[in-house]
Amino acid sequence: GAAVEADISGLKPGEKMTVEWRGKPVWIVRRTPEQLEALKGIDGQLADPNSDRKAYPTPEYAKNTHRSIKPEFFVGVGICSHLGCSPSDKFQAGPQPSLPDDWHGGFLCPCHGSTFDLAGRVFKNKPAPDNLEVPPHMYLSDAKILIG
Ligand code: FES
Repeated sequence: GAAVEADISGLKPGEKMTVEWRGKPVWIVRRTPEQLEALKGIDGQLADPNSDRKAYPTPEYAKNTHRSIKPEFFVGVGICSHLGCSPSDKFQAGPQPSLPDDWHGGFLCPCHGSTFDLAGRVFKNKPAPDNLEVPPHMYLSDAKILIG
């Protein structure tokens, strides 16, 4: 499929935009310093903290805590690795019934309750088996990302 260009110049900290690539929603999230901080020190609660699993191979440049090229920007496919629903944004998750109370927020799958952090990593390993897919991508400039 054709590669898609995303203009991220209007994206503010804490915001997300979506572009379509190969019929899939690709999310671009500009994370705040607090959101980036929340990704650290939680490896023990993640299904695959280093993105080693192979169902959706993570590009080498995204095999890090923030799962991205530039720490600030997360680029990921918005499709749950369990049965393919699209998770919802829960960037400000405080304690809520039925959610892990030590979860810092990220994405919540409405179908069977899988929780992902803001790097798309499965939090507490249920029931989604794998982290959200990071599509191949590169920066054309500070304002433009080429996906695919
Ligand atoms: Fe997402 Fe089942 S499809 S938890």
